Amino acid sequence: MAARINYSVQNTLCLLNPLNYPVNAKTTHFKTGLNFSKNLIFPRKLKRPTFCTCAVSNNDRQSSEAAETFVLTTPLYYVNAPPHMGSAYTTIAADAIARFQRLLGKKVIFVTGTDEHGEKIAAAAAAAGSTPSQHCDVISQAYKTLWKDLEISHDKFIRTTDPKHEGIVKEFYSRVLDKGDIYRADYEGLYCVNCEEYKDEKELLDNNCCPMHLKPCIERKEDNYFFALSKYQKQLEENLRQNPNFVQPPFRTNEVQSWIKSGLKDFSISRASVDWGIPVPNDNKQTIYVWFDALLGYISALSAEKEQPDLQTAVSSGWPASLHLIGKDILRFHAVYWPAMLMSAGLDLPKKVFGHGFLTKDGMKMGKSLGNTLEPNELVHNFGSDAVRYFFLREVEFGSDGDYSEERFINIVNAHLANTIGNLLNRTLGLLKKNCQSTLVVDSAVAAEGNALKDAIEKLVEKARIHYENLSLSSACEAVLEIGNAGNAYMDENAPWTRFKQGGAASEAAAKDLVVILEAMRIVAIALSPVAPSFCWRIYEQLGYSKDHFNTVTWSGTKWGGLKGGQVMAQPKPVFARIENKTELEDEAATRKPVKSKQKKPQAQVAAEG
Ligand code: MSP
Repeated sequence: MAARINYSVQNTLCLLNPLNYPVNAKTTHFKTGLNFSKNLIFPRKLKRPTFCTCAVSNNDRQSSEAAETFVLTTPLYYVNAPPHMGSAYTTIAADAIARFQRLLGKKVIFVTGTDEHGEKIAAAAAAAGSTPSQHCDVISQAYKTLWKDLEISHDKFIRTTDPKHEGIVKEFYSRVLDKGDIYRADYEGLYCVNCEEYKDEKELLDNNCCPMHLKPCIERKEDNYFFALSKYQKQLEENLRQNPNFVQPPFRTNEVQSWIKSGLKDFSISRASVDWGIPVPNDNKQTIYVWFDALLGYISALSAEKEQPDLQTAVSSGWPASLHLIGKDILRFHAVYWPAMLMSAGLDLPKKVFGHGFLTKDGMKMGKSLGNTLEPNELVHNFGSDAVRYFFLREVEFGSDGDYSEERFINIVNAHLANTIGNLLNRTLGLLKKNCQSTLVVDSAVAAEGNALKDAIEKLVEKARIHYENLSLSSACEAVLEIGNAGNAYMDENAPWTRFKQGGAASEAAAKDLVVILEAMRIVAIALSPVAPSFCWRIYEQLGYSKDHFNTVTWSGTKWGGLKGGQVMAQPKPVFARIENKTELEDEAATRKPVKSKQKKPQAQVAAEG
């Protein structure tokens, strides 16, 4: 660790050394030839500019053995079609939570992956003229590529066709069988292939249509193996009583309670008519039901790469999960079926299941089956991953549904990322460059003495932390944005550009004001990094820090006082390219010009600051 920090400091020094000298302990006393504004008085002690060489606070970062482990999962996505924005949404949210938990110093195991068996997948492969296995390779790769483009920092990507997973599913099945919870019976009912579930007639629309997929369910009669879910009714009720936070947001608990209360029916866990699946142990004519297979992916993902497929070793690598993040449509599987399966196998239950809402288009759930999807690749390509991540996490209250509109998307990211944060940073660095040779005149702790902005920001950071902890991601973004708003108000009230012109004490005060605002920006860069990591890195870089420093920073770094007097900032350059409105974009696309960065400022202000 020490070696890594030294290396990073060296890099930072190299980067910031205006003469580009190789920097080492002996050569740090270079002359810079800086020409400070005549009115600006540096503290006497400070003979030359210094650079940020502070090691990252180790308070939050515990050694990996001592650190608390936080295991979180996204659903394993069906590979019947490439990912759409609805599937990307869960993963973006999970990534923000994973990054926040890492900032707290926890050892995070972030699991995602693909659900590759079953009738729906086999049909999609046939329609595409491929074998199921080729089809799964292509689509699961599309998920991996999208996750990379969206900067998803998962630790594990499990595919349910992975042999290690298959071994674990069979072992789990055998445990449940030994417990006496699996029996064979005939079943007749209405089946929705898209949900991969038998439906109760009561929940169907006219013509036996599934309310989610708006397609008729099929009459089906099969000789299947059943899981004795009904046996676990009391235990499931007891779990909810003892763990009132098990299902989140709280309003979804009522839904789960009422499913359980209305009486649980055993469900079939094998299919006689589906070949593309894991064979039932001791009965090769049947395959294991996709859900009884895929849910186990949360455990098999934990086993180490080259480990023998073994349920117990996988469990001891991190189970139980701290958090399953899912969409509300698959809550029953996660909050009723899965806990009962785990109880039967004698394994611990996950600590929390959070069911978020849907992204809708024209009020309908966006989905592959309805074909009303939004292309995440296109969004990322056009607007960048930070904009996509920020928009969906800020705009959709996590837990509720949210509608997408391009106009709103552009307005929000321009207003928040380009203007409130990006522009403020750019203006401040511009003033610092012009008046202070891009160098901070005092420590931010000193600059903020008796300053109400510091107190306000400390409160906002704490608010953001609590919101992140509670998975209120939109509110966390809002609290961080408030820091930007407070910084802008402070800038406008104090008008440092005017005070620099006055010289003397006014100029000194103006130089301190810039330190205060930049400290606020530093705090924003840490506090918003779970949501918009690259954007925040660009802010951090502008403040003169190295990438290693950014990568090892922790939440305790949001405490006021990180910037030090003498620290040299980078040359101001926009951290977020403003998105032009739709018509401009279309014009540009027609002439094949790239989207340009325009940091707009009111004319009067440009004149005043200049
Ligand atoms: N394969 C199962 C999950 C098995 S987990 C062991 C599955 N896959 S899915 O691809 O259909 O859906 C995956 C997730 O994407 C679900 O949480 C679902 O809610 C989410 N979304 C799919 N469309 C969505 C929206 N339009 N909006 C938000 N999330 C949505 O179910």
